[in-house]
Amino acid sequence: MSADLTVGIHDISFATTQFVLTHATLAAHNGTDIGKYHTGIGQRGMSVPAADEDIVTMAAAAAAPIVERHSADRIRTIVFATESSVDQAKAAGIHVHSLLGMPSATRVVELKQACYGGTAALQFAIGLIHRDPSQQVLVIASDVSKYDLDDPGEATQGAAAVAMLVSADPALLRIEEPSGLFTADIMDFWRPNYRATALVDGHESITAYLEAVAGAWKDYAEQGGRALDEFSAFCYHQPFTKMAYKAHRHLLQNCGHEIDEERVTRGIGLTTTYNADVGNSYTASVYLGLAALLDQADDLTGRAIGFLSYGSGSVAEFFGGTVVPGYRERLRTTTHRDAISRRQPIDYARYRELHEHSFPVDGGDHPVPRETTGPYRLAALSGHKRIYEPR
Ligand code: COA
Repeated sequence: MSADLTVGIHDISFATTQFVLTHATLAAHNGTDIGKYHTGIGQRGMSVPAADEDIVTMAAAAAAPIVERHSADRIRTIVFATESSVDQAKAAGIHVHSLLGMPSATRVVELKQACYGGTAALQFAIGLIHRDPSQQVLVIASDVSKYDLDDPGEATQGAAAVAMLVSADPALLRIEEPSGLFTADIMDFWRPNYRATALVDGHESITAYLEAVAGAWKDYAEQGGRALDEFSAFCYHQPFTKMAYKAHRHLLQNCGHEIDEERVTRGIGLTTTYNADVGNSYTASVYLGLAALLDQADDLTGRAIGFLSYGSGSVAEFFGGTVVPGYRERLRTTTHRDAISRRQPIDYARYRELHEHSFPVDGGDHPVPRETTGPYRLAALSGHKRIYEPR
């Protein structure tokens, strides 16, 4: 292992769903003042999967342009992070591997720890590349966030997948050591195996998140990390975008800084734009923040970016990255904006129908109606097996 080996994110691509429910539509249905959604939690819309979309179809749509650009020749591992898995045994990444026609000489595995899983996948990928810098790892974070109808969490639903190619000598972002780590056994958000929707103690989860921010930062500082002022921007996990503002204020206060709202907005404002329209994408959310920042910011070459990944339950990690010269030529800004703008708005009745949709569990043949105009779809459930196909 070479001491000057740099490892990090070589490419990043995201995909989301066919449909969007705007918060204006939700507010008109449930009588909530729209200010609570737009200003109070900082959300404008939530991505809603069509019946033939799920974490696999979004993941394949996010990863396909990466495999197309770089080929799969050096990708020997796919790590798929999710907390809305479609199977208790088989890794969802194997469906993606198959849809993208990747070589059999690949290891594929799925990881889970609530919304933190994508960062675990990224860190594990970095370890693999330190072992063999000629290899690349495809990290995919894909989730559908789903709460009960009329639950306070309902307004923070969403769905998206982010795919990242992790490699030596990365073209976008070098990930730095050290990491600051934090774990606490807490039931702020969870989903028992028998439930399709998550359970959450919303206000408890905000407190738990803020404690995790302080804990992860404390460890980061003790491990010899950068000073807070060295970072140009911060990507936080965003269950709703106002949470990033709460977290950043908390970090600044924790480090003895006065709260200057202009400074807070400068540090995180651009990272929230995609999440505000997409909603909570759980494992993908912090990296959707990175995509939004890189796509929109003035030149960040050589700048340090801080990451705070939080997963209820709870685990958090703070780490830094440095933006690589020439990164702007590799971005997928137009495709990312299109992924958000191409979604079709749906009315409340259609949203409710999709929310309540579930597959029969009798093991029969159940074709799924064609709805998505994305590149991959769930075609059927047959003999208890999910059948995916290119559209
Ligand atoms: N105009 C502007 N702001 C308004 C408003 C209005 N008309 N009405 C309410 N608000 C503000 C509130 O003041 C509050 O802001 P604050 O947090 O800065 O005090 C915010 O909107 C939310 O209002 P609140 O009454 O706390 O909403 P809620 O009880 O419905 O809960 C969540 C909000 C986020 C806790 C809830 O959506 C939830 O449980 N989400 C899922 C869990 C989650 O995302 N956890 C985060 C950590 S992972």
